[in-house]
Amino acid sequence: MTETRTRVGIIGAGPAGLLLSHLLAQAGIESIVIDSRTRDEIEHTIRAGILEHGTVRVLSESGASTRVLTDGHRHDGIELRFAGEGHRIDFRGLTGRSVWLYPQHEALKDLIATRLEHGQDLRFGVTASHIDDSDPARPVIVAADADGQRLEIAAEFVVGADGSHSVARAAVTGSQTGGYFREYPFAWFGILCEAPPSAPELIYSNSPNGFALISQRSATVQRMYLQCDPELDPSSMSDRQIWDDLQSRVDGHTLIEGPIFQRDVLRFRSFVAHELRKGRVALVGDAAHTVPPTGAKGMNLAIADVLLLNEALLALLLEGDERALDQYADAALRRIWKAQHFSWWMTSMLHVAPDATDFDRRRQLGELNMVVESEAGRRYLAEAYTGWPTDKA
Ligand code: PHB
Repeated sequence: MTETRTRVGIIGAGPAGLLLSHLLAQAGIESIVIDSRTRDEIEHTIRAGILEHGTVRVLSESGASTRVLTDGHRHDGIELRFAGEGHRIDFRGLTGRSVWLYPQHEALKDLIATRLEHGQDLRFGVTASHIDDSDPARPVIVAADADGQRLEIAAEFVVGADGSHSVARAAVTGSQTGGYFREYPFAWFGILCEAPPSAPELIYSNSPNGFALISQRSATVQRMYLQCDPELDPSSMSDRQIWDDLQSRVDGHTLIEGPIFQRDVLRFRSFVAHELRKGRVALVGDAAHTVPPTGAKGMNLAIADVLLLNEALLALLLEGDERALDQYADAALRRIWKAQHFSWWMTSMLHVAPDATDFDRRRQLGELNMVVESEAGRRYLAEAYTGWPTDKA
């Protein structure tokens, strides 16, 4: 058994854990980051790709990712499609803000490279089993490395940035699952294909056959999603069936087709942990909350948590001031519930529930018309999508 000491022990080398270690290091606070996955797994798992303007700002200004500005693509709006017509939501015109298309795994490559360059103690293949908080002033991460060797990391503060299956959650909420929770009766079937972009901006399409999202990855690779049954076997549809289905769902727009080289099914859930902090342990990112992907909020929300927790940890560890830490959960939850509402709203407005009646369908089209025909409606969507200011959490 090895025992190590650090100031902040961080479980999870996702965007939240890595950015937090980066910001702490800039203030001279040392941390250890562990993750059960290999570096290769982290850098190659396909995740979402939309970054709010505030996320881009913190990644670039802190030096965590400089590529986000050179290799990412600014998007000034999206298209909402329904009833055979497209309606542009002009983010820049409505809010003065844009979002950036930059795949999460690219941001992770940048973060990992930056942290290693700065000498971060970052350990892959190390799996935390639990947090021992028997001494509340000195929580200990109990973990095992890839060879099964037990490892204890004693810290002044422990952060659970360990995703939706968080083991840190138990130390904060008393249970691994405890939280506010909602499931949805559908999922997304996601594909990556080799083709040029089918449209300049993302298309969110509500169709009688179900929702489709036409997203992008690069000039030659595109990401698209189809609403599907959560139990769908991704290998059960032929490429032809997928393209016919996607084409029918963007009624009035023709997609450029190409070979499909990756398929996956993404389940939908909304979750907020009952508590975000207990004593010297706090949760950030998916460990604290999960949103359905329709509003592209997941990674952005994780980064917003980190900005708040970083401020609180600087006050605590540099000045012994606990006030910001005492406010962390309330401040983070304010934004989290706004994002929960937005993600749920976009999901319910754009998807067709399996038990939807004709009334539901017509009401949904009424709602979409209300949003696109009114400047206030379009602005409401644009403000939420591009992200609320971080100073207001
Ligand atoms: C993606 O490109 O993967 C993506 C984009 C927007 C979303 C969700 C996922 O709302």
